[in-house]
Amino acid sequence: MRREENKEMDDLYTAPSSEPERTTFFMEMARQLVEDLAGKKGSPLTCCVVTFGCQMNARDSEKIRGILTEIGFLDTKNEEADFVLYNTCTVRENANNKVYGRLGVLRGYQKKNPFMRIALCGCMMQEAHVVEKLQESYSFVNLIFGTHNLYRFPELFTKMLLSDRMVVEILPERERIVEDLPSKRTYPFKSGVNIMFGCNNFCSYCIVPYVRGREVSREPKEILREIETLAADGVKEVMLLGQNVNSYGKNLDRPVMFANLLREVAKVEGIARIRFMTSHPKDLSEDLMDVFAETEKLCPHLHLPLQSGSSRLLEKMNRHYDKAHYLSLVQKLRERKPDISLTTDIIVGFPGETEEDFLETLDVVEQVRYDSAFTFLYSKRNGTPAASFPDQIEEPVAKERFQRLLSAVQRIAAERAERFAGKTLPVLVEEQNQQDPSLVTGRLANNAVVHFPGDVSLIGQIVPVKLDECKGFYYVGSRTT
Ligand code: SAH
Ligand code: SF4
Ligand code: F3S
Repeated sequence: MRREENKEMDDLYTAPSSEPERTTFFMEMARQLVEDLAGKKGSPLTCCVVTFGCQMNARDSEKIRGILTEIGFLDTKNEEADFVLYNTCTVRENANNKVYGRLGVLRGYQKKNPFMRIALCGCMMQEAHVVEKLQESYSFVNLIFGTHNLYRFPELFTKMLLSDRMVVEILPERERIVEDLPSKRTYPFKSGVNIMFGCNNFCSYCIVPYVRGREVSREPKEILREIETLAADGVKEVMLLGQNVNSYGKNLDRPVMFANLLREVAKVEGIARIRFMTSHPKDLSEDLMDVFAETEKLCPHLHLPLQSGSSRLLEKMNRHYDKAHYLSLVQKLRERKPDISLTTDIIVGFPGETEEDFLETLDVVEQVRYDSAFTFLYSKRNGTPAASFPDQIEEPVAKERFQRLLSAVQRIAAERAERFAGKTLPVLVEEQNQQDPSLVTGRLANNAVVHFPGDVSLIGQIVPVKLDECKGFYYVGSRTT
């Protein structure tokens, strides 16, 4: 090792031990190392952060991009960049498999670019067998970290640059919530905001509690401070994020109900639209339903995962509600906000699912009439209780049910979308249309997608659009003046 690198290794030991000083120290060190490398390469270093999985991961990726930009990287979407990071998901087996396949491709790029470093983080890394496999068979990966130590990224990144070996740091639990990490938003006008981390529910099929740890809520004043800063920076829409936002604030020193947090967020000037994700039916309070009726800013859309319509299976899934309770929630919501759009998640082929159970699910779909639904084939996750349940369902049976469910969901979604055809509604314009540059694409308050003629100057604005035609999953509209 050269002398100057030795000096940098020595510097590691002079790092302050308290936060945020420690993170600031490593940000500065990383910035200098990146500058040196760019000098050697003769051009700025590029980075590419690829997100798998949910909104939670998307938000984490924005924070990582914020750090990388601050230490001197040019952010790109090109996986031949000098630093490529996969932020992984493991909720279903196929999410997991994708990563291994794509790592092979990255290895090819790395052989051609001596500056290229590869990193992996996120939920998959919290599984010991994954990290073992990577250490054994994917030794070209330079850095691995998990879901609980994102705030340590500047330090881990610095160590990676100074080391010839794979740097691995996985913490079993979240130690602290570090506020004020830099972040580079994907959209200037909308942003996710974490309100809590982790999950305590242990639905029997789900790996999330094992890889994201126990539920911890952020202090309301920190959340509001972040949203005020976002609003001052031009953000119009916030999505409050947590695995089960309905249980937000219960474990704070001074408990705060989620409904009251929403009321506070609604007071922030400049924020026009508030969304949240995800809400567990067992904790959905009538107080929260009232907020939909009280404030226009709360978008008339609720994602309320059903998982199954069979009370027998719901019990095996450890969901703590039954079919009748779920249907009564929907009824109460519609009494308060008749036009509310409801969306859901449904799992098909859970162990022991009979044709009768499945028909119960179809029955709920027909009764509730969702605006859209994510449907998933059950995927066995090692370490979860359901993985060892008897009567795992044969794939052809599950697939056949899946198709029946999908066609019901699609038919109903298209019928539901018709109710807005011909109306003029506010659209938050998000981007230029990818296929046709004469169009822009935006979203209604209920989250439905609208394409209409317009130019990029409209991006980030909320404008009235007449919904001329309903195409099932989206609308084609025109500007009204
Ligand atoms: N916290 C959220 C869900 C997060 S995971 C909630 O409870 O609503 C997103 C969705 O993935 C879940 O709602 C569920 O439908 C699906 N899912 C989770 N584990 C799964 C598994 N093992 N197989 C198939 N789908 C699964
Ligand atoms: Fe998984 Fe259930 Fe927690 Fe959602 S509530 S993340 S489905 S354990
Ligand atoms: Fe996947 Fe982790 Fe989200 S497992 S769904 S990225 S919490």
